[in-house]
Amino acid sequence: MSDLRTAFGESFGRAAEGVWHAPGRINLIGEHTDYNDGLVLPFALSRGVSVAAARRDDGIVEVRSRQAGAVTAPAEGGTVVSEGWPSERAWAAYPVGMARVLREHGTGGASLLIDSDLPQGAGLSSSAALECATALALCDLYGVEIDRPELARLAQRAENEQVGMPCGLMDQSASLLAEPGRALMLDCRSGLSSQVPFDPPAAGLALLAVDTRASHALTGGEYGRRRAECEEAAALLGVDALRDVKDLGGALQRLRDPVLRRRVQHVVTENHRVEASVGLLRAGAVAELGAMLNASHLSLRDQFEVSWPEADTAVDAALRAGARGGRMIGGGFGGSVIVLTAADRAGRVRDAIAAAYGKRGWTAPEFLDAVPSAGARRLA
Ligand code: GLA
Repeated sequence: MSDLRTAFGESFGRAAEGVWHAPGRINLIGEHTDYNDGLVLPFALSRGVSVAAARRDDGIVEVRSRQAGAVTAPAEGGTVVSEGWPSERAWAAYPVGMARVLREHGTGGASLLIDSDLPQGAGLSSSAALECATALALCDLYGVEIDRPELARLAQRAENEQVGMPCGLMDQSASLLAEPGRALMLDCRSGLSSQVPFDPPAAGLALLAVDTRASHALTGGEYGRRRAECEEAAALLGVDALRDVKDLGGALQRLRDPVLRRRVQHVVTENHRVEASVGLLRAGAVAELGAMLNASHLSLRDQFEVSWPEADTAVDAALRAGARGGRMIGGGFGGSVIVLTAADRAGRVRDAIAAAYGKRGWTAPEFLDAVPSAGARRLA
């Protein structure tokens, strides 16, 4: 990352004090469970967001991006809501929002130069990576010590309050807590997590990430609507969160609204799938995860209704080509899918997905090797 340091010097006319990196994530399983106080099982990608930074003593946070323009904003003051910003500046709400939240903990002004090798809108958490890289940089620059689970909550808060996206805790936790060769089992109620070994190649398998090239914008209303439906269902059932529904059959009988019934069905079964998946991984039965991925995809498609045509087509084509399983990941309505396949079938699976896209005249999908990688850290 020495070239980001050099670029910082050229851009700001002074030296960077350091360079920090935070990865994007893939969620193996546990979708739309985090804001229901449930369980998730993400891991970090090797790609992410890097930030070169230096303090400023005037309290101003100035952010520049190698992929976009520059934005200057006071670190104090009112709320930043990305939708209120011109769209070419909306990205800046993430680092500026983060700086505003951390200000309460003793950080101050800074110049930040941001670089990313994560595709935006691909559902790989480029936003969380941007928040977390900024958070590490500011905390280090100002000698502020916050433990990582707490920092993840602050980054989530920045996104909720400053950007206006009502996300859960998963993406920020994955970026800050992940370890290479492991998936992170996170209980979003207690905040407790454990590392679960996840090494598909050792089992003769490959996990492919497919950017379906249908880009999503989660500050849009559908995500918030799903969250509100879950909260409404929990209130009708008299529980704090859908995590607490123990008797699914009874709960479904009590709810009149078929939409709410479908949402509850998804969340409750998805939590069980996370537990089962962790059990399979711990038992060394990695290939069996395929069935869990398939069940999760069907539930997200039919019960939670957040899948999209490109994702369904990619999963379908992969299964027809003999993959063990696949599913959409992230909030939905665009982004990526993951596919678990025997390593020696990966080429055939890729070709089958590309061919299904070609037949429909869609922009070709992009394939990414999804290798569980290290969490956020200082690079230099
Ligand atoms: C987005 C949100 C996460 C989580 C997922 C769905 O990625 O940022 O908090 O809710 O969607 O599982």
